[in-house]
Amino acid sequence: MKRTHANFLIIGSGIAGLFYALKVAKYGKVIIVTKDKKEESNTRYAQGGIAAVWDMSHDSIEKHIEDTIIAGAGLNDEKIVRMVVSEGPKRVKELIELGARFDKIDNEHYDLAKEGGHTEKRILHYKDITGWEIERTLLEAALKHPNIQILENHFTIDIITQHHLGEIVTSQRTDIECYGAYVLNKLNNEIITVLSNVTVIATGGIGQAYAVTTNPSIATGDGIAMFYRAKGLVKDMEFIQFHPTALYEGKTNEQSFLITEAIRGFGAILRNKSGEAFMKKYDEREELAPRDIVARAIDNEMKIHGSDHVYLDCRHLDRKEFIDHFPNIYNKCMSIGIDPFVDMIPVAPAMHYLCGGIQVDKDGRTSIQRVYAIGECACTGLHGANRLASNSLLEALVFAHNAAEHSIISFNNYIIPDGIPDWNAEGTSHPEEMVLITQARKELQQIMTAYVGIVRSSVRLKRAWDRLELLYQENEALYEKTTVNQPICELRNLICIAYLITKHALRRKKSIGLHYIIDEK
Ligand code: FAD
Ligand code: SIN
Repeated sequence: MKRTHANFLIIGSGIAGLFYALKVAKYGKVIIVTKDKKEESNTRYAQGGIAAVWDMSHDSIEKHIEDTIIAGAGLNDEKIVRMVVSEGPKRVKELIELGARFDKIDNEHYDLAKEGGHTEKRILHYKDITGWEIERTLLEAALKHPNIQILENHFTIDIITQHHLGEIVTSQRTDIECYGAYVLNKLNNEIITVLSNVTVIATGGIGQAYAVTTNPSIATGDGIAMFYRAKGLVKDMEFIQFHPTALYEGKTNEQSFLITEAIRGFGAILRNKSGEAFMKKYDEREELAPRDIVARAIDNEMKIHGSDHVYLDCRHLDRKEFIDHFPNIYNKCMSIGIDPFVDMIPVAPAMHYLCGGIQVDKDGRTSIQRVYAIGECACTGLHGANRLASNSLLEALVFAHNAAEHSIISFNNYIIPDGIPDWNAEGTSHPEEMVLITQARKELQQIMTAYVGIVRSSVRLKRAWDRLELLYQENEALYEKTTVNQPICELRNLICIAYLITKHALRRKKSIGLHYIIDEK
């Protein structure tokens, strides 16, 4: 298969891509390309749950809106916040109708949890593996649908635009169109031209740009990078969310295990190296302050005490209830010799979520015609300068629905022009030294962690900029002569993402939300 055709090409099989696929499948042929096993995604690791106003006897849409805007430091788009919070419960109901099981306290009532920044209990969850349950539900439904084809181990290299027809495409052009994508079949190294009326970027996060992250190795920002290369508009990349409590195991460059914020909602206390409960020094909401505040407080305590972690104290919590709610976390801790009822859990902040991304409107439409972006790779305006916990899964559902509704009515008008060439691999050969690629990826992760992390300064940002420039030059030279493969493409994408984060961070001179700069002007 060198060339194939779809009505809807979806890049990514997380919550956003799969929910969209299920909505459009009855209108045409859907191809989902996904670069690893079909279930591998950020979605699969989501723990805490999905925020939605569910119990109107104590909660309200207005309260959820207010919490979202307070967490986002007011930089949110209020209309979008209102839309997501109001429409969200309907979309969650659809997920339940598809078979997602959320924990209940009795036949009628869901067991709603509370997380940082929420003034009410409104998080639906399945134990502490909510993402796994959502991914299972959506994949099962997608696999049954005759119009949906899922291509696992298929890595998207670039989207196809007029550039591939020989036209000059600059970011000034407002008529850039997309006709599909070039996709590498990792099993036989063939590059397929997938032509499609509509292309949906649902490629998730960018955690791998940092040395310590809760994101799996697939989170390399590919969709954002390929969209930016195609001259599309990208926004708010400086807002990098660090989760306050990833399990500290002393490792870098691999996925850190998350200790969900819901545990703090359950009563766990953060303590520094001396055993002091420190959060009251930083915020009256203490352990349940929004994430940017808690992560900075931990960072500060680590610096004061010269330690590389703090502790989460669960020893006073009810053992049975804890194991009932957090079996995955309990088992993980026990597997590495930490009994949460005897020992405190060592935790440290880790890169977790990107608030910025591909700029979209309320329907997930981007600045490139025929391209929608949904899920974590999109910047919708919901999160502002800092995402409220458990709002991401909700956002993915709402925007997947809106994008589906919009594309169903328009995809038939999108004609694919003749003459789109296949991938040109002339003049390239297989890389002789993979170490150049693996080492550069680690270097990039160290640069971003050291200089573009939780606390920034103009000197650190400038240093990152200079180091990234060098990595960029070296990698472009290597890319030009190398037969494409996943590692070099991911590195190229990560360099692009790191460049965008640093560029946007340099542009924002004042601290706000997740962007904290010590020498603000
Ligand atoms: P993903 O689920 O990441 O899916 C992206 C897909 O794109 C993957 O299938 C990937 O393989 C594919 N892909 C990427 N690049 C390419 C390419 N080049 N070619 C082909 N395929 C590609 N949010 C909440 O709201 N509540 C939570 O409790 C919560 N907990 C979290 C816990 C953890 C540990 C993590 C990491 C995140 C958590 N989040 C949570 C955030 C949330 O899980 C993600 O933002 C959300 O799942 C993203 O969904 P998505 O569909 O946009 O992307
Ligand atoms: C968590 O469970 O703490 C993560 C929730 C989120 O990222 O929204």
